[in-house]
Amino acid sequence: MGKALEGVRILDMTHVQSGPTCTQILAWFGADVIKVERPGAGDATRGQLRDIPDVDSLYFTMLNANKRSVTLNPKTEAGNKIFAKLIEACDVLVENFAPGAIDRMGFPWEKIQELNPRMIYASVKGFGPGPFEDCKVYENVAQCTGGAASTTGEIDRVPIVTGAQIGDSGTGIHLVAGILAALLHREKSGKGQRVECAMQDAVLNLCRVKLRDQQRLAHGPLKEYPQYPNGKFGDAVPRAGNASGGGQPGWIVKCKGWETDPDAYIYVITQAAAFAGLAKAMGREDWLEDPEWNTPAARLPKLDKMFDEIEKWTMTKDKRDVMSILNPLNVPCGPILSMKELAEEESLRESGTIVEVDHPERGKYLTVGNPIKLSDSPADVQRSPLLGEHTDEILKNVLGLDDNEIAAAREQGAI
Ligand SMILES: CC(C)(COP(=O)(O)OP(=O)(O)OC[C@H]1O[C@@H](n2cnc3c(N)ncnc32)[C@H](O)[C@@H]1OP(=O)(O)O)[C@@H](O)C(=O)NCCC(=O)NCCS
Repeated sequence: MGKALEGVRILDMTHVQSGPTCTQILAWFGADVIKVERPGAGDATRGQLRDIPDVDSLYFTMLNANKRSVTLNPKTEAGNKIFAKLIEACDVLVENFAPGAIDRMGFPWEKIQELNPRMIYASVKGFGPGPFEDCKVYENVAQCTGGAASTTGEIDRVPIVTGAQIGDSGTGIHLVAGILAALLHREKSGKGQRVECAMQDAVLNLCRVKLRDQQRLAHGPLKEYPQYPNGKFGDAVPRAGNASGGGQPGWIVKCKGWETDPDAYIYVITQAAAFAGLAKAMGREDWLEDPEWNTPAARLPKLDKMFDEIEKWTMTKDKRDVMSILNPLNVPCGPILSMKELAEEESLRESGTIVEVDHPERGKYLTVGNPIKLSDSPADVQRSPLLGEHTDEILKNVLGLDDNEIAAAREQGAI
């Protein structure tokens, strides 16, 4: 079976993380992604957080798999012409520069539409229209302005940003959905359109349940939050430590070895339907007869005490053993897995979620493969391209330039 997006060509003007996440997903699905980079420099992440001198960083290699790289400066005369030809030859332009950068290259949306009315033009920006629309934004700025930081962290302590890149990668994934919708719509309309995704909006979308809670707060305390019943609620959704965001109480509890292993913990959700099994497994059958414990309503005001009791039991066991005991009892739970453990996890290697890739300059490295699995359209992971590795090939085979034209462009510093 062919790849899902075979035949779709992407003009990839992305850099850093949000945009590259988007185009990497499109590339995994088989789109021909042509990454345009500044001659001599390339995407800044090639050189950031390097672990090996003079070799493309893992930051870059893990976000740019399955793409082709062409060096091109659209701000030169020859480069401008080549860029126009690329617009004509591609289906989708994806970019995440500061607002106005593509316009300043001489390619406002009107000009792009003139060159290729079927072109879909997709952008990530920090903010949508409004007071901050011109601002430059990185991951943590989006987490702070999108509602994630104000609702993450320990109770009464500073706001915390999460390690999950919900601002960058989260927005890139949203943008993929917009591009695919626009591609489908183009089948009917014959026309391309603008697709825009602001990082603040994407983070807020991912924090949807907290806006739910903001509105619930107007009608009384949030009973599943650890602040209930003894703490105070203000007029905005507070940080809730590790409390579950859903209707079933959950918390992180210590497991055997926590004194020395920072990841010897497990998340346990005391789902009402499975509570009896949990109580029996930990030797607390007495709870099931006791009106102080045997209903969700009775447990609600003392969740901290309940989790203290559960922890006394989990502390006697390895986190994976706790999971093995609780899973058959339908108790939802998950050990805190370190990146080391995930990198070594056999089942993730087998499913292609963690992949080992060979790179001509750095050798073998691990990357996260496509987490979205299609039954008939396999997605393999190819190493990231070297800077300008495919410049000549693309100018010749995609745009039809001859050797003289390529040499002239090179002389001008356009490629
Ligand atoms: C990420 C970000 C903060 C980085 O800012 P930055 O390093 O100052 O880079 P900018 O995007 O402002 O600008 C890039 C410049 O390089 C130029 N450039 C990019 N590719 C080029 C190329 N191939 N040839 C020549 N010039 C190029 C652009 O034209 C622009 O120049 P200009 O400002 O004179 O018009 C900014 O791009 C941004 O806010 N992006 C939108 C939000 C986003 O995606 N953030 C998350 C990133 S993970």
